[in-house]
Amino acid sequence: MATTMITGASAGIGMELARLFAARGDDLILVARRADRLETLAAELGPRARVIVADLADPATPERLFAQTGAIDILVNNAGFGAAGRVAEISVGRQLEIVQVNITALTALTCLYLPGMIERKKGRILNVASTAAFQPGPGLNVYCATKAYVLSFSEGLYAETRGTGVTVTCLCPGATSTEFAEVANFRNAIIFRNAMSAAEVARQGYAATLAGKRLVITGLENKARAVGVRFVPRGLVVDLARRLLLG
Ligand SMILES: NC(=O)c1ccc[n+]([C@@H]2O[C@H](COP(=O)([O-])OP(=O)(O)OC[C@H]3O[C@@H](n4cnc5c(N)ncnc54)[C@H](OP(=O)(O)O)[C@@H]3O)[C@@H](O)[C@H]2O)c1
Repeated sequence: MATTMITGASAGIGMELARLFAARGDDLILVARRADRLETLAAELGPRARVIVADLADPATPERLFAQTGAIDILVNNAGFGAAGRVAEISVGRQLEIVQVNITALTALTCLYLPGMIERKKGRILNVASTAAFQPGPGLNVYCATKAYVLSFSEGLYAETRGTGVTVTCLCPGATSTEFAEVANFRNAIIFRNAMSAAEVARQGYAATLAGKRLVITGLENKARAVGVRFVPRGLVVDLARRLLLG
């Protein structure tokens, strides 16, 4: 049976992913800051679920997690957040925290666990990016840039690990009904009008991970937009994004 570690399991997509991996009988390691949420989920999932309370904004956390867990079979780098507003209006500390959680912690965890997976010729990594990865996002700028990194890093790793028995999958959800908008203080109702459920996004990410796919973009409309931006001049894409996100 597999051991699966999920970061950001206390809410939203991560919580739904935990339910899916638990349903197939995996041992689970649930990581996030809110202990009460994680304990409630662990109680629901049963004795195979273990809680590790950790702040991924702390640079020491990935090494500490690695030392605490030992080998795992599946790593789900799902924890992430954004901050709405113009870059000049958001504190440096908050922006760097986004980079630390969305990029640095994800990279560190991947680099720590991947060599062991390759040695054992077995493992799966799921990195959660976003459709925000496909174009700049004025008004959600640092967040979008971090997700472009996650997409690029994950697709590169998918190619690097080919034939090793390890697969790396990148999940790019569009707007999804979770706590994301509230945490980001994101008040743009248009974008979340047709938000997908966290359960459906998780289901697609879960299936793609087990199938060893490179990339999954949730929903037809999101797929079409991600492909479409390649054929539109970059200046126009940036301007359309500005109008959509900043009004
Ligand atoms: N919702 C969307 O529209 C959407 C769209 C595309 C991509 N995504 C991506 O999907 C992933 C999951 O987000 P979600 O939508 O499910 O949002 P969510 O409901 O806000 O969940 C975010 C999770 O990340 C954890 N987290 C945040 N900061 C953390 C930190 N410093 N240390 C440890 N854990 C931390 C949170 O746990 P604690 O607060 O308990 O620490 C929570 O479990 C993120 O990477 C997000 O960027 C979301």
